[in-house]
Amino acid sequence: MNIPNQNDDPAILQALEKYKFYHIIPLNERLSTPGVPGFAKLHSPVLRQMGKMDFQQKRVLDIGCRDGLFSLQAERQGAKEVVGIDSCLSIGAVEFLIPFFKSKIQMKEKGLFDLNLDSDGQFDIILFLGVLYHLRYPFNALKIVSDLLAPGGILILETGIFADSDRHALLHCPIGTESPYEPSSVTFFNRKGMVDSLASFGLKVLETDYITEQDRHSSDEKVVRGTFRCQKNLDLYDSQLHRYWTGNPHQNWRKTT
Ligand SMILES: C[S@@+](CC[C@H](N)C(=O)[O-])C[C@H]1O[C@@H](n2cnc3c(N)ncnc32)[C@H](O)[C@@H]1O
Repeated sequence: MNIPNQNDDPAILQALEKYKFYHIIPLNERLSTPGVPGFAKLHSPVLRQMGKMDFQQKRVLDIGCRDGLFSLQAERQGAKEVVGIDSCLSIGAVEFLIPFFKSKIQMKEKGLFDLNLDSDGQFDIILFLGVLYHLRYPFNALKIVSDLLAPGGILILETGIFADSDRHALLHCPIGTESPYEPSSVTFFNRKGMVDSLASFGLKVLETDYITEQDRHSSDEKVVRGTFRCQKNLDLYDSQLHRYWTGNPHQNWRKTT
């Protein structure tokens, strides 16, 4: 397709009509992609955390990147390589947004569980935003994310959090209509469960930002959105415990307990 010039509003509007967008991404001073306004408020804490970070020369992975709002931001902040993956590729991003911004983002249709260290390598920064609560295998996902993050690297995780008293580390795993969102949303750690689980994967939480979502949860449930900026710290990662958890036959658990 012919990519419109940044100032050619009629041609931009015509191009936008072909696609469905999730993110609201400014295209020029007058026009933006027609994303879902209800989700826009979830983006501010993430953009705030990104604003504090140095992306210069960094290799960045955006898991569940959708239309690429955060991938584009990482590129704008100087990342040398940005890989965006999503199990449902945004055609609007690939056909229109990436060429429109003359971006070098590598956007691929790929699921998180198909990522691995051998083929994808390690990243300096991983963005894992609005995806964890959709996953049925959250611990496997956190393991993959941790493995793909370089030592000292930064993870920004954004997810729905079950807000309780935090006396215990909990994972709320509702099925069907019991989900505070909709049936694809099945994984809600409480704050302690999230922070402690991240630590067990060698991910130390440096800063947290919570916002409430009064319009999205029912009256008796307390789900907030949490943005966690974490740093990979191998000192927190107990390889012997991980060998036990993954059932690796070479672990030497009995001898040491
Ligand atoms: C709620 S949207 C969040 C989009 C974006 N990260 C944001 O925060 O605005 C969740 C995205 O994750 C993608 N997704 C869900 N499960 C995935 C998986 N296992 N691997 C990769 N992407 C996934 C969905 O297709 C969707 O685009």
